Amino acid sequence: MIVLGIESSCDETGLALYDTERGLRAHALYSQVTMHEEYGGVVPELASRDHIRRTIPLLEQVMQSSQLGMPAIDAIAYTQGPGLAGALLVGASVACGLGLALDKPVIGVHHLEGHLLSPLLASNPPAFPFIALLVSGGHTQLMRVDGVGAYTLLGETLDDAAGEAFDKSAKLLGLGYPGGPAISRIAETGDPNVYQLPRPMLHAKNLDFSFSGLKTAVLTLVKNHPHPLTIKDKANIARAFVDAMVEVLVAKSLAALQQNNLQRLVVAGGVGANIQLRNMLNAAAKKKRFEVFYPELEFCTDNGAMIAFAGALRLQRSPQAASKDYRFNVKPRWPLDQID
Ligand code: KG4
Ligand code: ZN
Repeated sequence: MIVLGIESSCDETGLALYDTERGLRAHALYSQVTMHEEYGGVVPELASRDHIRRTIPLLEQVMQSSQLGMPAIDAIAYTQGPGLAGALLVGASVACGLGLALDKPVIGVHHLEGHLLSPLLASNPPAFPFIALLVSGGHTQLMRVDGVGAYTLLGETLDDAAGEAFDKSAKLLGLGYPGGPAISRIAETGDPNVYQLPRPMLHAKNLDFSFSGLKTAVLTLVKNHPHPLTIKDKANIARAFVDAMVEVLVAKSLAALQQNNLQRLVVAGGVGANIQLRNMLNAAAKKKRFEVFYPELEFCTDNGAMIAFAGALRLQRSPQAASKDYRFNVKPRWPLDQID
């Protein structure tokens, strides 16, 4: 079975063809980062309009590089939510229009399920059950995953998402958008002993997170600084931020593994690309004897491959999950533990 995947929930347009027999056949991505950069964040209306411009050329690109013809597509998966309503509508309408034209069924996929299952696309995939740490621009969650569609929410952020805290703190430091990679890079040269930032909810008994206080602590440091920040100051603050963030994410992930008596951790979402997080998790895994799995770097941030893949897994489990009813709706807010 060959599934076309379309991702358009935020500021990346991603298309991909996943073949259940031969794996990923082609994928293509367009990132709108440079367009949103001058505004310091994603402008939803600009995002939707750009998805309209990019989707068909990217479709042509994946068809060409896979050397498959349109009739080879067996089903079309698209991100139905959560995300920006206008942006989601572009992917949904292209998917349903194409389904109608080709007489192929369509299936709406949950964006976070795509992230969650993306490590299974790697060459050394984890077996079920596992704990998933989902850390993206919009979400920070710990889930127990017993199989495709069997997700139990263990804890989540009460305010800002991890990626959001990275992005907002980077903005305060004048490091541009998106902030995660920028903070991570400059933090490498920072001195860990200059500033100490709070580790929110580190000692709370539950598996929830809170990152807005960490961002506010960065704001206070920046505001109270006696002179304009030098590169060195920025590096030191970035280092303190990353150390605090990573320590909380790692401690909560370890607690989730322990409480569920599991030995496999999967890290997914854009912040999963963070090198400091990966280093600390890898060190903890060695010491505490658990395994940690990451998606390939290119599939950490938003992409079409994870949507095609999640759609294919759903269809393998229940072929009736796709339909030829081409009326569509999108779900900008859609809790992951509420999917069928
Ligand atoms: O999963 P994603 O591409 O989009 C959402 O679904 O939100 O995640 C984007 C987030 C952004 O907040 C970005 O700053 C963050 O992931 N990010 C990183 C890194 N790469 C991307 N954060 C920290 N370190 C990175 N290397
Ligand atoms: Zn995402």
